[in-house]
Amino acid sequence: MEKFTSIKDIKNLDEIIQQACDIKINPHADAALGKNKTLGLIFMNPSFRTRLSTQKAAMNLGMNVIVLNISQEGWKLEMQDGAVMNGETVEHVKDAAAILSVYCDVVGVRCFPELKSKEMDYSEQVLNQFLKHCKCPVISLESATLHPLQSLADVLTIKENWNRPHKPKVVLTWAPHIKALPQAVPNSFSEWMIQSDVDFVIAHPEGYELSSEFTEGATITTDQDQALLNADFVYVKNWSSYTNYGEMSLVKEDWLLTPEKMKATNNAKIMHCLPVRRNIELLDELLDGPNSLVYQQAENRIYAAQIVLKQLLK
Ligand code: CP
Repeated sequence: MEKFTSIKDIKNLDEIIQQACDIKINPHADAALGKNKTLGLIFMNPSFRTRLSTQKAAMNLGMNVIVLNISQEGWKLEMQDGAVMNGETVEHVKDAAAILSVYCDVVGVRCFPELKSKEMDYSEQVLNQFLKHCKCPVISLESATLHPLQSLADVLTIKENWNRPHKPKVVLTWAPHIKALPQAVPNSFSEWMIQSDVDFVIAHPEGYELSSEFTEGATITTDQDQALLNADFVYVKNWSSYTNYGEMSLVKEDWLLTPEKMKATNNAKIMHCLPVRRNIELLDELLDGPNSLVYQQAENRIYAAQIVLKQLLK
């Protein structure tokens, strides 16, 4: 592996998941692999799980970790090649990335979309500039369009909770929210589910279609009740509109998951990447109930990050 920005960087998904399971059983087996190696984590946006789980994974591998919350503590970065920097930006990404590569052996970058221009966000300008100018491997800590470390942890969590001979039915269902959120988590989850041995369904209100680039091969419906029928896993997530880019058009039907709606499922497990706005996006009684996997997903972020770092260090 030379970088990790999407599922396309993984050669064999089953092998990676098995190796992540092995790491979970013995997380310190490779404690010498990262000796005298440095991981640099650059955050342009807030984070709780990604930052801490990736740091923990690096520490399990014996790496040193340096973190910069660049939007708060660093110089404002210029992303345009050839820019005349007579405005607010102080440092060009090509300089920052080149210098990071001197300080670090692996670099992680978190760069959310602005949700103003579809073309700009889906071009992945920020992540691509780091990929272009870093001379060491780059990991996406969630980019404008994808969150691959989250999806790797999610696939691991589903594997851990499924031991029947037939494929599980996995439903990604849109949920209400009070503000516009990126499409990165659902795009990414969809990509990874399509390549997994599952029956995958996406349910969303009209107007909330995701980009077909990431959903080709999924069953897509605007009927949440139909989608939930006999589901084994229900992944709850809000996202803003891709079509009316970044907007949150009014949804008349009630898309909030309830215990009543869950009765149609096969006693399904409930997933969410977190953070979650309780009782807006997902109810307390479901989040705190026996079928919730949300803390297991968060724990598995460590092993997802660790297998990726291990592959890059090798
Ligand atoms: N799920 C996730 O990426 O969490 P953070 O935004 O807190 O890192």
